[in-house]
Amino acid sequence: MELYIDTANINEIKEAAALGVLDGVTTNPSLIAKEGVDYNKRLAEICEVVKGPVSAEVISTDYAGMMKEAAVKRKIADNIVIKLPITIDGLKACKALSDDGVRTNMTLCFQPLQALMVAKAGAFLVSPFIGRVDDVGEDGMDLINRIRQIYDNYGFTTKLLAASIRHPKHMVDCALAGADVATVPMSVIKQMLQHPLTDTGLKKFVEDYKKAFGG
Ligand code: E4P
Repeated sequence: MELYIDTANINEIKEAAALGVLDGVTTNPSLIAKEGVDYNKRLAEICEVVKGPVSAEVISTDYAGMMKEAAVKRKIADNIVIKLPITIDGLKACKALSDDGVRTNMTLCFQPLQALMVAKAGAFLVSPFIGRVDDVGEDGMDLINRIRQIYDNYGFTTKLLAASIRHPKHMVDCALAGADVATVPMSVIKQMLQHPLTDTGLKKFVEDYKKAFGG
């Protein structure tokens, strides 16, 4: 399972990269707005730190605008992946960019047929938002499971990227469901390494050793 960090904060990205297990980065307009920096400049900085796929989302909602933004963003670095919303215009842009050898991340996926359509258009990644599905009283994991089954039924190579992950339970369920990638905030990456029994066990090991041998 690949692990991406879901942030535009350069310090968090550096901190996650230093763990040695980071495969990529996803950003979105809200995450950039929170940073208050120029989007393309920040993408260039991120691509210096992480050599795996870095998703750069378009702001335009029409086909021509998306293609124009994609033309600029794809020049930032070789590992830029163009992130597009799953709409009719987004699907057309996905097909055109995929045919041109550009990798895409199709975002805001909330139902399995959206995932089917973008796979047919050659998407590199599809991003179902499981936390936001849970937020409206539905089951985000059900979306992951259904997309996994559809992709496996037809041998689609689009990677299933579980997004909008809120807690470690989401991560466990995504790993069990066979999500190819998960994009996760730094807080959850840290939680994935924590267990109270690890802390108490470690404390006891150190205390016992020091009691016996000093130091
Ligand atoms: C994915 O690419 C999105 O940036 C992200 O996972 C959305 O998460 P949120 O629902 O916590 O905003």
